Amino acid sequence: MSAQHALRVESAGVPSTPPVGGVGKRPHVTVRALSKTFGKTVIYDNFDLDIPRGELISVFGPNGCGKSTLINMIAGLIPVDKGQILFDGMLLSEIKFGYVFQNYREALFPWMRAFDNIAYPLKLMKVPPAERRARTEALVARLGIKLDLNLFPYQMSGGQQQLVSIMRSLVVEPEILFLDEPFSALDYEMTLFMREQLQRLFMDTGMTMVLVSHDLEEAVYLADRVLLLSRHPARVADFTPVTAARPRTTVTLSEPDFVSTKAHCLDVFQREVRRA
Ligand SMILES: Nc1ncnc2c1ncn2[C@@H]1O[C@H](COP(=O)(O)OP(=O)(O)OP(=O)(O)O)[C@@H](O)[C@H]1O
Ligand SMILES: [Mg+2]
Repeated sequence: MSAQHALRVESAGVPSTPPVGGVGKRPHVTVRALSKTFGKTVIYDNFDLDIPRGELISVFGPNGCGKSTLINMIAGLIPVDKGQILFDGMLLSEIKFGYVFQNYREALFPWMRAFDNIAYPLKLMKVPPAERRARTEALVARLGIKLDLNLFPYQMSGGQQQLVSIMRSLVVEPEILFLDEPFSALDYEMTLFMREQLQRLFMDTGMTMVLVSHDLEEAVYLADRVLLLSRHPARVADFTPVTAARPRTTVTLSEPDFVSTKAHCLDVFQREVRRA
């Protein structure tokens, strides 16, 4: 950590000791003393978390435990009641991040062609039109995605629309990407395809990614670590490392290490469900 970072972190009052569930690596995101209540339900109470830089973190836990609420608070989409969330000591407003919504049908602008949907965040940032075009074309070329970008959302399949919304989240070159069950509305074939696209993107960029998934196999398959949450108030039940080499393939799914990591996560999950 640079002296400047240390200063920023200290001045922001973040303790230097890692929280329970901390991973001992330089954190990208530090969540401290986070509390959130909806009505009478306490979703988070004094919750601490370190998200390491450059890792893909899958968030897994029982329905309604607070997975979406967590990433929505980290991404600033909903306010926290109490607590502090910093990105390398900085505030969210000082960094570039991307967010991929679960429901791609509502996420894209129906009156805009794919290209303009992808370029839209640059327009918001007042990037001149020629540069917008160049940056969008460069992104599409880099990802090697074959898609007619003149199509409107209604002319695209669900998977193609979700690809467009992922590209839109990437056009600003974010340092961190949040994805809330991004494949849940896709059919199985498209889900498998999109998993590979995401894995490739992660390997190419080394970007920090936080992925909410309700599919344990997918959560383990994609992750460097699986964040297992318990039910109200949510606690870190485990932060399980996944050591399988990348790129992971269908062969990975039957490797002993992968199978035992998945079994461990299932164990923790079932224990937490029983406890609730
Ligand atoms: N805006 C809201 N108003 C009131 N309660 C809410 C609101 N958003 C979420 N909740 C409640 O907070 C809890 C956590 O919700 P959240 O959506 O974060 O869960 P989740 O883990 O993402 O669940 P799922 O697996 O179903 O997506 C749930 O009990 C939910 O009903
Ligand atoms: Mg959710």
